[in-house]
Amino acid sequence: MDSHSSHLNAANRSRNSQTPSPSHSASASASVSSSLHKRKLAATTAANAAASEDHPPPSASFPPSSNDDLESISARGANSESDPEESEDAVVDDDEEDFAPEPDQDSSIRTFTAARLDPSSGANGSSRNTKIKTEISTVKLEAGTGTAGVSSVSGIVPKDESAKISTDDDVQNCGAYIAREEALRREEAANRLKFVCYSNDCVDEHMMCLIGLKNIFARQLPNMPKEYIVRLLMDRKHKSVMVVRPPAGGNGITHVVGGITYRPYHSQRFGEIAFCAITADEQVKGYGTRLMNHLKEHARNVDGLTHFLTYADNNAVGYFVKQGFTKEIYLEKDVWHGFIKDYDGGLLMECKIDPKLPYTNLSKMIRQQRKAIDERIRELSNCQNVYQVAEFQKKEGGSPKKIRVEDIPGLRDAGWTPDQWGHTRYKLFSGSGDSVTKQKQLNALIRVLLKTMQDHSDAWPFKEPVDPLDVPDYYEIIKDPIDLKTIGKRVESEQYYVTLDMFVADARRMFNNCRTYNSPDTIYYKCATRLETHFHSKVQAALQSGAKSQ
Ligand code: COA
Repeated sequence: MDSHSSHLNAANRSRNSQTPSPSHSASASASVSSSLHKRKLAATTAANAAASEDHPPPSASFPPSSNDDLESISARGANSESDPEESEDAVVDDDEEDFAPEPDQDSSIRTFTAARLDPSSGANGSSRNTKIKTEISTVKLEAGTGTAGVSSVSGIVPKDESAKISTDDDVQNCGAYIAREEALRREEAANRLKFVCYSNDCVDEHMMCLIGLKNIFARQLPNMPKEYIVRLLMDRKHKSVMVVRPPAGGNGITHVVGGITYRPYHSQRFGEIAFCAITADEQVKGYGTRLMNHLKEHARNVDGLTHFLTYADNNAVGYFVKQGFTKEIYLEKDVWHGFIKDYDGGLLMECKIDPKLPYTNLSKMIRQQRKAIDERIRELSNCQNVYQVAEFQKKEGGSPKKIRVEDIPGLRDAGWTPDQWGHTRYKLFSGSGDSVTKQKQLNALIRVLLKTMQDHSDAWPFKEPVDPLDVPDYYEIIKDPIDLKTIGKRVESEQYYVTLDMFVADARRMFNNCRTYNSPDTIYYKCATRLETHFHSKVQAALQSGAKSQ
């Protein structure tokens, strides 16, 4: 079988966690005041109190949370020692239950608890490392009220025109990237999906979404201290771009699918991505990519950023690479050094935000480019003409109908002339000998070449046709499949391959199919490349020895 979906793996890969980044470990562990089984009701975090100049000061009431969730949050003032701009720490006292399973999020948010900040808390340095006293009140949010506060990310509100996206292209024609992006755009246009950017601003709906996102981070980044997640998420210098599902019909709970929390350093014009995750059952469906595209557009248009930096752990590097992040840091060190700290456990990656790219409508741009290239190809070639060949597949008296090469539709249009019959770019045998003898020599050679492939240690993925039960989407993507067994049958017929070119073309298609379906890091892809190298060396050797013997 020459197939292996990278997506099948991706779910596993993407479950991995991220380790705290630079200032993380120190400040996070320092801020933990964990008392297991003891739930404290949250006060607005000291991060609120230490809100950046960019944000309004916290209001007195701490907005809603899921019943479990905000109960788990307590706060105390604690300046991050690592960051001159860092706001104060929020602290979580929680046990495992504090992070309710994501699917329960909807129901758990209905009834939430609000806490009021002790007015004296956290607003100044004197509150550092001091638990904020809280006054607790329980607030019920009626179904439907939750939608009011949801606003789309500035500048990235889907326009009505997005509903007009054509639907007639399948993955084969437009590629998986466009197919996924456009499917999600349609969801946005139908208001079943929204991309929003919230920070800790004490708006009920925003806070509920932040809590939902916190739950996702806590599950998807298990190595990240939960206290640290809360601290950054609620830090008013951080923003979170989220993908959410608004409640159907406007009534109910906004469901958070995933998000990215980042901190924009406006003066430096770069942003640091702190966390990024999609809820477990929605991963590898394109949300992560679309989220990153929305983030880039928002960061460029609203924050004025030109770059993103992030510390990625090994498991996330692949995802970030696909989102345009590089391991090379081109940004001048002076720009970011001292703003984000060096970190041993992760790889610093950079992404330049293009000043013009329509990140949330890349598919349209790619389509236009593709169309322009297609038109140019049509000017130069007639390869777009498709001829009917059905009648050639008919059988006469049980055996395949004999066809004359010159009768094959389209062959002449492609420039073929009858004097080219039997022409091959491979000069195998001397001019002497009749056509029967030459065919026998050719068959003998092809058998040898086939055997060298079959016996090779990298041949195992190619020995049988791909089983659609094992790989359901294989034949949606690979329209012209071929494998060693099928090639073997054609060789056995001794009539199929009338030139060496035809045999080589089948082998080449087999390798190309494999590399089309599988990503370069898969064993299948590597087997294809190694076996192809081996095969071509054998073909070359056969041609050279044929040339010598003439
Ligand atoms: N490593 C390598 N590639 C990955 C990957 C990973 N961990 N996660 C996803 N990909 C690939 C996908 O296969 C896909 O590739 P393709 O375009 O060639 O098909 C591409 O990245 C984008 O996939 P997409 O479906 O848009 O991503 P997603 O919705 O699954 O979100 C994550 C990606 C990483 C955010 C998500 O998988 C996740 O939450 N993982 C757990 C938390 C985590 O590791 N976060 C990153 C560090 S903060």
